[in-house]
Amino acid sequence: MGREPTVETLHPLARRALAALEPYIPGRSAEEVTARYGVRDPSKLGSNENPLGLSPRARGALIAALDRIHHYPDPDCSRLKQLIAGRLGVTPAHLCLANGVDNVLTCLGLAFLDPGDRCVIAAPTYTAYASLALLLGAVPVEVPLTAWRVDVDAMAAAADGAKALIVCNPNNPTGTIARQSEVDRLLARVSQGTLVVLDEAYAEWVDDAAFPDGPALARRHDNVVVLRTFSKIYGLAGLRVGYAVASPGLVACLERVREPFAVDRLAQAAAEAVLGDDDYLRRAFENNRAGRAFLSTAFAEMNLEYLPSQANFVLVNLGRPAAEVAEQLLPRGVIIRPGALWKLPTWARVTVGTAADNARLVGALADVLGRPRPAPGG
Ligand SMILES: Cc1ncc(COP(=O)(O)O)c(C=O)c1O
Repeated sequence: MGREPTVETLHPLARRALAALEPYIPGRSAEEVTARYGVRDPSKLGSNENPLGLSPRARGALIAALDRIHHYPDPDCSRLKQLIAGRLGVTPAHLCLANGVDNVLTCLGLAFLDPGDRCVIAAPTYTAYASLALLLGAVPVEVPLTAWRVDVDAMAAAADGAKALIVCNPNNPTGTIARQSEVDRLLARVSQGTLVVLDEAYAEWVDDAAFPDGPALARRHDNVVVLRTFSKIYGLAGLRVGYAVASPGLVACLERVREPFAVDRLAQAAAEAVLGDDDYLRRAFENNRAGRAFLSTAFAEMNLEYLPSQANFVLVNLGRPAAEVAEQLLPRGVIIRPGALWKLPTWARVTVGTAADNARLVGALADVLGRPRPAPGG
């Protein structure tokens, strides 16, 4: 976003690939907004986290895990793998756990991308994919969305001779999904020589029955990798746990490049506990479903174009530079993500919050945009 890294700003010994990288600009933190504007408890709707906070079961597990914090964690995450495998209908050998999906992506790159390899991605999508390819000297090949959805046919056509193809499903930042039938068609067309990565960071929020069964695809296809995270519905973004589901042969490659203790002791304990916190997970899912509907209705009433979402965020067109709107929302205690990083300068991605967060966002947005506040409840 406006900060072009140049070779001059880098250390003279840095790899040349670094000059092509945009530094990642994360969403604003709550601490930053509190320090700058004196807002005690801002509504953090810029990073797609779970607004319900920590699961009660995970809290208890974290406290108990402190007693052994002076010991290294289990490098294989054996208990956590057993639990995930049982839920997804795979075996522990189908799983590679690491320090968030971002870290799993790095492992995928280290294990599979050679310099010059082509890596097909959608545009716009999660920005980490292109950055990773560039870092490794590989070539990101961007395929535009069609009607805001991943165009699987255009991606399959672009994948001829490509080493990897990544589908973010649901797609960040649009919240749209590729359906089972579309992913099946993609896999039928793409050669076995192309790794197909299905990034399902937001899968647990989906309620559309057409969403594919990613883990089943990973079990059947030797070139398919599915990515899942504990940062979203499981509410553990600050602890960093993500994983890949893939054939045992593919997982073995990831294990070769993964650092030995990638998932720390607290993260393993919390992730194990939250998997069993059905009440928390149900509340998170229902809060999101209701909040997504509330925001969609409110945006429609404000005459703002928005995309129907299957994730825990909604992409909305504010009709003016979204970066400026986002700045004006900060003193009102609301953090959103303006769309410039996806080359959508008038759009913003808004995470679904609690009912109070969502109402605060809609009220603040109406003030800033000078539009009537939508009626409460819709
Ligand atoms: C599509 C997508 N993949 C991966 C990630 C990163 O997940 P993690 O927190 O597990 O690194 C995000 C985070 O926002 C994301 O949007």
